[in-house]
Amino acid sequence: MQKETNKNLIHLNTFGIEAFCDEYYEIENSLELAEIDLSDDFLILGSGSNMVISKRLPQVIHIKTKGIEILEENDKTVKLKVQAGEIWDDFVSFCVDNNYYGTENLSLIPGTVGASPIQNIGAYGAEVKDIIQSVEYFDIETKSFKNIDKKDCFFEYRDSIFKHKLKGKIIVTSVLYILEKNAELNISYGGIKNYFVEQKPTLKAVRKAVIETRNSKLPKPEELGNSGSFFQNAIVKEMKLRDLVVKHENVPYFKAPGGFKIPTAWLIETAGLKGFRHKNAGVYENHALILVNYGGATANDILELADIIENKVFDVFGIKISKEVNIV
Ligand code: EPU
Repeated sequence: MQKETNKNLIHLNTFGIEAFCDEYYEIENSLELAEIDLSDDFLILGSGSNMVISKRLPQVIHIKTKGIEILEENDKTVKLKVQAGEIWDDFVSFCVDNNYYGTENLSLIPGTVGASPIQNIGAYGAEVKDIIQSVEYFDIETKSFKNIDKKDCFFEYRDSIFKHKLKGKIIVTSVLYILEKNAELNISYGGIKNYFVEQKPTLKAVRKAVIETRNSKLPKPEELGNSGSFFQNAIVKEMKLRDLVVKHENVPYFKAPGGFKIPTAWLIETAGLKGFRHKNAGVYENHALILVNYGGATANDILELADIIENKVFDVFGIKISKEVNIV
């Protein structure tokens, strides 16, 4: 385990925000977690791809554990135990190379394996809950390792028990995935479907299509600091949707649990804020759900911009949007 003090986290968060922490620990083996005297206010860091660091942090635990282990295998499925510090897309690439089905639509999502169950990452019609069997974690109070079954994780759209009851109480150490060796590919999502009008897709081709689609819309953090979707998509009741359709006949919507999902990118763009800049931060020109750091943006610049957007969307549509990123 490596320990540093007064560490600058600017290169450890994809927004590229300068922020310092008092104590910084790098963990290469989960067992090391039991050796740290954890403060009440620690931060677990994977790739730092879904957060805005808004203050000096007392203690940062950077999970860098690696390993993909086959636990069980038969003709139809394979069970893989993957360490929390593995880069998510390295794991997707491993699965596609080995012809394991289930991760391909989630190609190129930034972040680590350990973060994948926390917000139930999803893209192009797939969610990680569909392939998770269980999650192993370190229980901070008892300093012991435990397992939680998928059914007890309460996975929902960008949500799970890890954001609620277990928040601050546990550290995810590994995830058990169950993948199929021969399955239907899910290419029904608009942007992906267009790639396969003529030929029948292969697993590799789906990964390639997802990567190309993402690259064409989403900025690369190395080039322009960002943390993917900054807001969640909005869920509205049928009454509200009817009201919206009257005023905006082209409003896109999808049936979803709890009502209808309206793309927040559409709300922001229609409110006139796509490309809008505030100090050193802005709404990305090619995708209105993404906030970007044009260089030197502070957490305050980004949070002020988020406020402007939330207020404007509320004024125009009467819809309260929620952040998808974590503010720490
Ligand atoms: N749209 C606009 N303006 C824009 C961009 C999009 O009006 O600038 C509208 C279009 O109608 C488009 C719709 O929004 O059809 C949906 O856009 P997109 O397909 O890009 O997906 P999204 O709903 O904005 C979600 C996830 C992404 C994921 C994509 C693809 C959330 C919060 N975001 O975005 O996840 O990659 O679907 O499946 O659910 C992330 O979580 O960081 C992330 C990038």
